[in-house]
Amino acid sequence: MKHPILIAKNLAKTFTYPTRCELLKGVSLTVHEGETVAIMGPSGVGKSTLLHILGTLDTPSSGSLEIAGQNALGDTHASLRNKHIGFIFQNYNLLDEYSVLDNVLMPAKIGRQGDHVPIAKKLLDTVGMGNHASHLAKLLSGGEKQRVAIARALCNNPDLILADEPSGNLDDTNSARIHKLLIASAKELNKALIVVTHDFELAKQCDQVYTLHDGYLTPSDPL
Ligand SMILES: Nc1ncnc2c1ncn2[C@@H]1O[C@H](COP(=O)(O)OP(=O)(O)O)[C@@H](O)[C@H]1O
Ligand SMILES: [Mg+2]
Repeated sequence: MKHPILIAKNLAKTFTYPTRCELLKGVSLTVHEGETVAIMGPSGVGKSTLLHILGTLDTPSSGSLEIAGQNALGDTHASLRNKHIGFIFQNYNLLDEYSVLDNVLMPAKIGRQGDHVPIAKKLLDTVGMGNHASHLAKLLSGGEKQRVAIARALCNNPDLILADEPSGNLDDTNSARIHKLLIASAKELNKALIVVTHDFELAKQCDQVYTLHDGYLTPSDPL
């Protein structure tokens, strides 16, 4: 039987500044190991905010969230995040002054895990950045940073991959390569993937597709 990795119930998020805005009203979602979920919807609808909440990087105004069998709301969850979640940020969030390889190794170093250099190098090869391992992150183009951010998210072997428009800055060839990697990570390595995307080709390959609209997730018609 497949185990649930993430169970979100009735998540809401209201901002009161600069004006009151009920961005998320009642988001419920269950994702099992090996399962892939796409979240679509226009810009500004709250997709990144939702993904940050699911990744314990932001807190909801109400609702519940369980990740890998643990309550993921309340106190800080740095160790839960480090152990279970690989997050691909929409704006990459690389450490500019560190090399590409050191960026990819950062989660493993923080988690004081063993030698991840071989896996980090292999991931950099897979995303087409193997030749840039020693370059400083600040010298990369947007699309290159995006690919390094993807390698970093996978390096710690997380159970749950949260990807915020992971191919938003990539050409067709690199998009296809990244989509294949993300889907294969879920299907072959039994990880759960939640991906925010505008790309129908990627969404089509996912087990569940939702649109975020007016604060709720609605299942999309088959693509
Ligand atoms: N901390 C915050 N305070 C107030 N408004 C916010 C905050 N974070 C996000 N927002 C607003 O919420 C809306 C949704 O943002 P976001 O989640 O980034 O949407 P999406 O990823 O779907 O484009 C935007 O209008 C944004 O300005
Ligand atoms: Mg966004």
